[in-house]
Amino acid sequence: MARSLYLSLVAAAFHLVNLSCVSSSPAPRPNAVAAGPAVVNTAKLDGVTYSNKGIAGFGLIPSNFRESTGDTLGGIGSAMAIKLGTYKSNGTSVSGTFVVHPDRGFNVDGTVDYQARRHEIDFVLTPYYGTSSLSFSAAQNTLKLTYKKTILETERNNTKTSGLDSEAVRPASNGFPRVPLADPQMPIASTVENHLSLDIEGIAFNSDGTYWLSDEYGPYIYRFSTDGVLIQTIQPPTAILPFNSVGALNFTSEDSPTTGRGANQGFENLTLDPDSKILYAMLQSATIQDGGDDKETARYTRLVAYDVADLSINPELVGEWVVPLPLSSKDKVLACSEIIMVKPGVFFALARDGDGHGGDDNNSKYKNADLFSINSATNIVGSKFDNPANPIAKSGKLDKSITPANYVSFISYVDEDQLSRFGLHNDDPADQTLIDAKWESFALAPVNELAFPDDYFLFTAADNDFLSEQGVSLGVPFNAGLNVDNQFLVWRVTLPGVNKASICRSLGITC
Ligand SMILES: *[C@@H]1O[C@H](CO)[C@@H](O)[C@H](O)[C@H]1NC(C)=O
Ligand SMILES: *[C@@H]1O[C@H](CO)[C@@H](O)[C@H](O)[C@H]1NC(C)=O
Ligand SMILES: *[C@@H]1O[C@H](CO)[C@@H](O)[C@H](O)[C@H]1NC(C)=O
Ligand SMILES: *[C@@H]1O[C@H](CO)[C@@H](O)[C@H](O)[C@H]1NC(C)=O
Ligand SMILES: *[C@@H]1O[C@H](CO)[C@@H](O)[C@H](O)[C@H]1NC(C)=O
Repeated sequence: MARSLYLSLVAAAFHLVNLSCVSSSPAPRPNAVAAGPAVVNTAKLDGVTYSNKGIAGFGLIPSNFRESTGDTLGGIGSAMAIKLGTYKSNGTSVSGTFVVHPDRGFNVDGTVDYQARRHEIDFVLTPYYGTSSLSFSAAQNTLKLTYKKTILETERNNTKTSGLDSEAVRPASNGFPRVPLADPQMPIASTVENHLSLDIEGIAFNSDGTYWLSDEYGPYIYRFSTDGVLIQTIQPPTAILPFNSVGALNFTSEDSPTTGRGANQGFENLTLDPDSKILYAMLQSATIQDGGDDKETARYTRLVAYDVADLSINPELVGEWVVPLPLSSKDKVLACSEIIMVKPGVFFALARDGDGHGGDDNNSKYKNADLFSINSATNIVGSKFDNPANPIAKSGKLDKSITPANYVSFISYVDEDQLSRFGLHNDDPADQTLIDAKWESFALAPVNELAFPDDYFLFTAADNDFLSEQGVSLGVPFNAGLNVDNQFLVWRVTLPGVNKASICRSLGITC
């Protein structure tokens, strides 16, 4: 098909930006299909038309797969990136290594003392653009996944981290916030030697190989070394921190606080602009004071931006915008599980219900990779809205002084025509071919076809919540009563105006 012989431009990870790197390049293969795959639908944002060209690949990791520590691999979709320097094309396929990060282990029966860890998984994508339906097993040849290794993470003094609920608070260390490596008050598990509690939902790599993780307890953003050791901690503005009724911080995920992020509604998403070195994180839904205690009013969430160009100082909050999340047909807010930068000011958002395999219902009505732009939105950084006494959206009604981000619906995961091309479906029956409920991550990389310089692969993975009948957690077998594989999908998209060279930089490659 339209594969060019152009060798490995690009990339390893997710965010893009703007510049253009396609110049003098080998001519496309004579037999290339000039039209490329057909456009399924488009979305218009800031005057630019973005195209969805459908699913190009599907793969999975079986629900009972165990990683090198002996635990079920599970939950990997929580955070994903492409490892720096690994993305390449050979004219037929693209390949690379995913770095994935589970959240806090198997926690159907309560949180567990699960040490945070990242896994490396090699992939080979051989895209399929045909319209006829592949069988479910043949479809899995389009995205081949091979587990490589696991790196366990530690915090101060080489201490293991924990997935246990954070019932206690460790005091801030000396020098915070002036000393860049000093910690703020930290969420800790009171029952296991005060280990740092982590529930990781986002990952973004710096060009030096150190990486940022976003978390739901703090909600904090942590930087770790390549070896998996905590380096520094970013504490968000007061409006986002979980304060109880007596004005004290309480990081538990069991109850929502009086103000700040709701329980289990922390920083879900993290994306880094490789050029400006601005790190963006978005709350999964509104803070409590902004209407976050109710699905009917939790619509107005916040996107924050930190300047991480100089890692020798404490990263400064440089931007804060309001993003209106989509609503279901019953006017319930569809929380956002992931963002990734497309180009400066423009992001993909993964907004969805919790239905599908492993979810409450088999029939998912909304699972989308949508687009939003903050180019015309009000930057509320440093304003009165950083004080929880001044909500941006009291009872879910947006303050009139704020222009929110422009949010448009784009790619639907529950498109039966697209799913059936890969042997998948939505709704009954609840078998292995039912699309997973909890899609939670994105990575973005160029397709590297000369005829289509604006085409990219949007990789996305689901979090199976460790649902396996043959699971192992901390060395102990468990039966979650259901087998849900970790599914991966790849969409092909046209993103005009994206700077390919910048995407290449974010992937640690040149083009
Ligand atoms: C964003 O949030 C979801 C949690 O729902 C997480 O799974 C996802 O991986 C996060 N984003 C990134 C870039 O990892
Ligand atoms: C590209 O890589 C794929 C997967 O490893 C392989 O099957 C294919 O033969 C390679 N193609 C070329 C042209 O080298
Ligand atoms: C790390 O060890 C030092 C020296 O024993 C101690 O003073 C400090 O409190 C420890 N830090 C943490 C976070 O446990
Ligand atoms: C935080 O709240 C939880 C649940 O309400 C409670 O069990 C815990 O003791 C509180 N922790 C602190 C430090 O107040
Ligand atoms: C999902 O489908 C299965 C049949 O595969 C059925 O037993 C189950 O009741 C369905 N769940 C819901 C919530 O309808």
